[in-house]
Amino acid sequence: MAKNKKKKNSFSTRAVRNGTKRSFFGEHSEAIYQTSSFVFDTAEEAAQKFSGDQEGLIYSRFTNPNTEMFEERLASLEGAEAGCATSTGMGAIMLTCMTFLKSGDRILATPSLFGATIQLFETMLKKFNIGVDYARLTDIADWERKLKKNTKLIFLESPSNPLNEIADLKKISAIASNAGIISIVDNCLCTPALQNPLKFGIDLSLHSATKFIDGQGRSLGGVIAGNKKLIDELKKTMRFCGFSLSPFNCWLLFKSLETLSIRMNQHSQSSEKIAEWLSVDKRVSSVYYPGLKCHPQYELAMSQQKSGGALISFELNHPTSNSALTRAWRIIDNMTLFSRTGNLGDTRSTVTHPATTTHAKVDAKTKKLAGITNGLIRLSIGLEDYSDLISDLDEAMDS
Ligand SMILES: Cc1ncc(COP(=O)(O)O)c(C=O)c1O
Repeated sequence: MAKNKKKKNSFSTRAVRNGTKRSFFGEHSEAIYQTSSFVFDTAEEAAQKFSGDQEGLIYSRFTNPNTEMFEERLASLEGAEAGCATSTGMGAIMLTCMTFLKSGDRILATPSLFGATIQLFETMLKKFNIGVDYARLTDIADWERKLKKNTKLIFLESPSNPLNEIADLKKISAIASNAGIISIVDNCLCTPALQNPLKFGIDLSLHSATKFIDGQGRSLGGVIAGNKKLIDELKKTMRFCGFSLSPFNCWLLFKSLETLSIRMNQHSQSSEKIAEWLSVDKRVSSVYYPGLKCHPQYELAMSQQKSGGALISFELNHPTSNSALTRAWRIIDNMTLFSRTGNLGDTRSTVTHPATTTHAKVDAKTKKLAGITNGLIRLSIGLEDYSDLISDLDEAMDS
């Protein structure tokens, strides 16, 4: 009865109520189980728990109440059966690759990905004889064309970081399911508050929880949500590969989910105002924000996402000219309110120059394919008053 009721609850109720486990002390705010292992009353109990004949907590690399609470709450928000927490977002990506790929397999991805993800595919996976093919994120025919007999995984971001390109999740998930392979969406920029990829047939929704899920720049973390069968596979790898998230970070991220929806709505509202302001500014040639009506995939974005999210990228006039890098750096250096940092998804707005930071190690050809120019500036809009942020941008660009 209680379980059925939980299922019917809306997002904001699930965000504060699901996943809670209470100890015998009856604490209201959930406890932190900062322990590396759990004790057994008898040697026989230990043997039974290790063999899997008896359920129970063993060792925090693969069983901890804080991890379970975070995974359960996150899964409920993604509309998934189960979740698997990892030490970082990159850990989540590596865990899925190690679990579902073997030597000789290929992954079908897109150049419109976070720089470190491309690095992982191009260096680490290739070392293990796993090939990578790239399809244009927005071109369905290209995804179909690039699929090979030994492709085992489709991996993409939507919206993509930093250009906010949008993939048609329904069509791409259909390509994957027709081929009998797994589709994964890095849902980092939207979080489950704005988009649930599983609703469109995607198999796994993956996050760098370091970003908006924590939302306050305090903790690294990653998480993957999907059906129980796939998540159980991931957990088997986790048990001996150890990409585990610490109990304290699980607790922190679990509590952060309580305010996720409120934060994402506020981030989005301010971002819309700032993107609109940038879109009519003469010093700017392009604005990449899916909540703008002039975004080439506005309709698709709004059919998949609740709003545009908090990431805005924009290009200065003549973004590939020789002076673009100096001009972009000068603007960034003259900002006083935005923090100059590689992170995004914080209460405080951040500014980044992707070409020389997040995508610095990506080779020139892939960078060009991904559309990363020297004149591109990425903003992650925080919870400050949007008019203060516009003033800061305006003054920095005037310089
Ligand atoms: C879209 C995306 N995916 C994955 C990651 C990696 O996450 P983490 O830094 O938690 O490893 C990032 C980090 O910026 C990201 O932006």
